[in-house]
Amino acid sequence: MAVDVLLGLQWGDEGKGKIVDVLSAGYDLIARFQGGPNAGHTLEFDGKKFVLNTIPSGIFFDNTMNLIGNGVVIDPITLKKEIDKLKAAGHDLLAKKNLVIAKKAHLILPTHQLLDAASEKKMGEGKIGSTLKGIGPTYMDKTGRNGLRIGDITLPDFKERYQKLADKHTSMLTALYGHVDDFSEREAAFFEAVELIKQFPLVDSEHYVNGYLKEGKKVLAEGAQGTMLDIDFGSYPFVTSSNTTTAGACTGLGIAPNKIGEVIGIFKAYCTRVGGGPFPTELNNETGEELRRIGHEFGATTGRPRRTGWIDLPALKYAIMLNGVTQLVMTKADVLSGFEKIYACTQYDYLGEKIDYMPYDICAVEAIPILKEIDGWHEDITGITKVAEIPAKLKSYIAFLEKELGVPVKYLSVGPDRVQTLVLY
Ligand code: GDP
Ligand code: IMO
Ligand code: MG
Repeated sequence: MAVDVLLGLQWGDEGKGKIVDVLSAGYDLIARFQGGPNAGHTLEFDGKKFVLNTIPSGIFFDNTMNLIGNGVVIDPITLKKEIDKLKAAGHDLLAKKNLVIAKKAHLILPTHQLLDAASEKKMGEGKIGSTLKGIGPTYMDKTGRNGLRIGDITLPDFKERYQKLADKHTSMLTALYGHVDDFSEREAAFFEAVELIKQFPLVDSEHYVNGYLKEGKKVLAEGAQGTMLDIDFGSYPFVTSSNTTTAGACTGLGIAPNKIGEVIGIFKAYCTRVGGGPFPTELNNETGEELRRIGHEFGATTGRPRRTGWIDLPALKYAIMLNGVTQLVMTKADVLSGFEKIYACTQYDYLGEKIDYMPYDICAVEAIPILKEIDGWHEDITGITKVAEIPAKLKSYIAFLEKELGVPVKYLSVGPDRVQTLVLY
């Protein structure tokens, strides 16, 4: 058996949570492989809405296990909040026994968040626009070989280990930024949350996932963020601190590259980005405002308004290449209903030359989008359930994208609810 991977092809918020939820019933295990509570994955079904930050989006199915993989960074406080909220909504994960956590996943300390905030403040105008969840500093400690891991919480000297790292952070904060905000309340909440986490099975994700494969069971790896936020290949330095691409699923779960099966790449029918950094097709006008309003483009984690723009094919082609995408999912097609004309960026005008790839210095030199005009469709598609009901103009938009991208669109999402999903082939 192989591990299928589902991940975002743009700058995040493509609808990963919704689609993982739609596909979960067909899998035995859903495994998050990177990122942390910077993610906000929204699921809607039966008139209810949930936003998950750390917990995999397969959590609502009784016969599907969920793993928070070793590549994830965990803020115990946020994880406890998620667990408590789910319990209040009738989903008691301890009773259901459907969540396990990798021992090798790194811990986000309250002081990692202080470092994140102080660093962003110091950068001023040029800031990354981080979610301030402590992601960057935690991955820095991981690669700097200083970090604390989930498995450490069961050690008798965990408190001393914690103190040593927190002291290092407070010295850094004092030296670099001149002060340390009071974090005593968060520290108390951190240790309270750690006690809850201890009650969940803590596993070696590499053995856990490979065990599933050996038994012939089906595994889906759930990505967070998006390809253009990848630490190596995204719009650096305006990126997150993990590999959001398929390769990240290998290191973030402990699976070999030859164990990867289908790679399901998800994109919006247009494009959004939250935070700083280049966004060639951005619309700083009324049309952009309209996309934001109709598409409810406000961050699931931070509530920040998302920047909006037309679909960017050079960026999508790049993402498909990096990830080895075998199936595409297009979401939010319903948001474009009623637009007389829609546009797709097919190339960039870059220093007077037409190019169809993401240039290295995209953060320094403007890439002006060359747009193709496409007829819009007027029909409300939020209630359609059959492929035959897809408006002709939307069908030709999909056919155009498939031709450009060289990969078939298998799923079409026409609204936020689980049931608003069509399988095209
Ligand atoms: P994720 O981070 O990739 O899981 O995506 P988010 O949950 O941050 O953002 C996607 C938003 O779009 C959420 O509010 C979803 O409920 C919503 N959504 C997902 N698919 C569709 C769709 O096809 N149409 C509309 N209108 N909303 C959608
Ligand atoms: P999901 O999984 C959209 C963005 C932030 C910022 C940059 C770095 O919901 O798609 P970080 O907090 O990682 O230091 O922020 O990355 N970012 C996201 N944007 N969706 C996300 O996750 C994101 N996670 C981080 O806005 O620009
Ligand atoms: Mg999101």
